[in-house]
Amino acid sequence: MKIPSSPFILTIFGASGDLAKIKIFPALYAMMEEKSFPKEFYIIGFARTKKSLDAFRKEFGSSVKKYAKQKIDPKVLNQLLNHVHYFTGKYDQRKDYEQFADFIEKTTGKLNLLRLFYFSVPPTIFRPIIENLGESRVSKHKQNVRLIIEKPFGEDAHSATELYHFVSRYFNEDQVYLLDHYLGKSAVQSILHLRHSNRILNHMLKGQQIANIQITAFENIGIKDRVGYFDQVGILKDMIQSHLLQIMALVTMSIPVTERAVSVQKEKYNILSSINFIKSGENITIGQYESYRKDKEVPAQSHTETFAAVRLFIDRESWFGVPIYLRTGKMLKVKHTYVMVELKKFGFQKKSDEPNRVIIELQPNEKISIKLLNKHHAGRVTQDVITSAPIACVNKGCIPEHAMLLSDALMGDKTYFLTFPEIIAAWEVVDKINARIHEEKIKPVIYKDGSEGPKTQHDLPHSDGFEWIDLY
Ligand code: BG6
Repeated sequence: MKIPSSPFILTIFGASGDLAKIKIFPALYAMMEEKSFPKEFYIIGFARTKKSLDAFRKEFGSSVKKYAKQKIDPKVLNQLLNHVHYFTGKYDQRKDYEQFADFIEKTTGKLNLLRLFYFSVPPTIFRPIIENLGESRVSKHKQNVRLIIEKPFGEDAHSATELYHFVSRYFNEDQVYLLDHYLGKSAVQSILHLRHSNRILNHMLKGQQIANIQITAFENIGIKDRVGYFDQVGILKDMIQSHLLQIMALVTMSIPVTERAVSVQKEKYNILSSINFIKSGENITIGQYESYRKDKEVPAQSHTETFAAVRLFIDRESWFGVPIYLRTGKMLKVKHTYVMVELKKFGFQKKSDEPNRVIIELQPNEKISIKLLNKHHAGRVTQDVITSAPIACVNKGCIPEHAMLLSDALMGDKTYFLTFPEIIAAWEVVDKINARIHEEKIKPVIYKDGSEGPKTQHDLPHSDGFEWIDLY
């Protein structure tokens, strides 16, 4: 992890919320453990609830103990807590921001330190915070301000564009860090590194060589206490719009000419803005797990999808006719995220011959496998699999996604952050899919909890003569 040398102030809006407790506080602990902070830094929790500094530090510490993946060293935790502060304020009250400016000055004694503001709040509160930050003394030294805003960015292309314009009224684009935590996963980042550093792999990952690509993100848990949010959006907006389309872009984009963030973002945008969803019900299937509607908070007639599979194309000469299948679902048999790239067979190969496949496993283990066919003396075709050593990132040894991204934001590195044009292009794809679902009145197929999802998902690759590749 990179280590910033200049002192900074990190304000977390929504410091009493779940995102802060489950993801951000443990990420800050991981950074402390990695010695990724400069000598002088301040973490300020900003929330509406009145509480003492002691109470907030206690809450912070308990969240770290509860949610961090690694063993906690009390000494490190205490060192971190010494840097933690708390401010009570309302997000939409201008006067509270003026008081907050005084609080910062009193706490830090400095006027122009680097100031990062993390939006760990529901999207409905983004605007009041942006406006108040933009207009109050809190960001008097504007060039030192960075905003870290986490997805969802709008609920369709239109609202995302409005948000883009709104933010631009107060801040420059280079001050805004748009966060999708998938891009903080070391496995997702390694897609680019793998392609960058291995010509052999990069040659394989060219549209002309590829028969089809599949991206699977399965989860074995349901919606739990997020019904209020999830039932309004569904899995297309929750998972496909950002996480899966970002992975798709990283796998299929041209290798950027430089490693600079703008080059990476431009290439991702080129793919995202060329995605073609052919408007037909055959290119989409949706499902809902059996117990979803049994939750008393879910409307009895809810048609919100908890599973979706879609078939997409990329409108570029090099990707002509290559289907890309994405599927994701909740409450399935396993938690597993992987990319499967199937290469074309030669004309003389038998139908029964297995094709070459490159499989990039992202979760729970990071692993890359290449399937090769190997003809032995006896004339029998056998399969060999070259596999990299798996890296188990789940329990230990891995830096949490939010820590990776926070550290990048501190360093001013935007390579793994999104841009609004990418986000809007991805929304345009999802908007088209949703429009088709509504026009054709496609209803989710009910699937059993803990199953492999609806059977109808198989229709998508079958229509091109392919099969989903299940790894478990
Ligand atoms: C979030 C979605 O962005 O990603 C959740 O809102 C989903 O619904 C989560 O469960 C999955 O993230 P991960 O890191 O557990 O794969």
